[in-house]
Amino acid sequence: MSELPFAENPAAEVPTADAPPVAPRADADSSAIPRHVAVVMDGNGRWARQRYMPRFFGHKQGVDTLVRAIDAFNARGVRYLTVFAFSSENWKRPTEEVSGLMSLVLVAVSKYLDKMAADGVRIRIVGDRSTVSDKLRRAWDHAEQLTKDNDRITLAVAFNYGGRWDVVQACRRAVADGVAPESVDEQWLSRHMALSFAPDPDLFIRTGGEMRMSNFLLWQAAYSELFFTECLWPDFGEAEIDAALAAFAQRDRRFGGIHPQPTVPEDS
Ligand code: FPP
Repeated sequence: MSELPFAENPAAEVPTADAPPVAPRADADSSAIPRHVAVVMDGNGRWARQRYMPRFFGHKQGVDTLVRAIDAFNARGVRYLTVFAFSSENWKRPTEEVSGLMSLVLVAVSKYLDKMAADGVRIRIVGDRSTVSDKLRRAWDHAEQLTKDNDRITLAVAFNYGGRWDVVQACRRAVADGVAPESVDEQWLSRHMALSFAPDPDLFIRTGGEMRMSNFLLWQAAYSELFFTECLWPDFGEAEIDAALAAFAQRDRRFGGIHPQPTVPEDS
């Protein structure tokens, strides 16, 4: 097991389950490029409505946008991309939309998995798999198995995921394993959260104009830089990615600390 070389981020001191050692990429300035980007891909429905099309059309376009975004983030040196594809709360949507999203994922896996595998994308699924169909579970298992040795970029797909669910499932594990209360600390929990294989997200992007987290990565995003854009997810292309990365590069990350103050000469 290797420790992630991400000294600025205290959370990354948590030993991770299976994170590979990451060599800095020649084309990336490691201080300016976020190592891990998390995205709430919002706005598919409105994008479709603007075109007098059903919401499903927006989600379908959203998958193609995601595939292009993986390439673009990868090319810019981002090593982990986590996307919110289906939240624990999305079951509240009309049955037709929920089943449309489930089938869309199956179609997307069969359409794009070979490309992802060939491009060196490691796919991980995070979320509660207990309530999705056997077919979907098998597709996820296959995608993870096929890409497990890839190391260019890790795509974590949050599906049937909620930040509160994540905290609860980690706590349940502690109870089930009989872990002593004093042993349950931030590091223990981080090691048992769904994204234990990744450093905490440096940059949290939400498209679609809303400015909230919607129960995504509540624990892991404690010190993420937030970036909200009006751009609807299907329109989120390279120019928008560059704008988000440029905003990130301007941020002053202190993780609750302060920068060392210049020392004042004693005789002044
Ligand atoms: C939010 O837009 C988007 C979703 C709930 C689904 C996002 C899913 C995808 C882009 C497909 C992902 C597929 C794979 C294979 C990972 P919205 O419907 O809330 O849009 P609105 O706010 O305009 O109504």
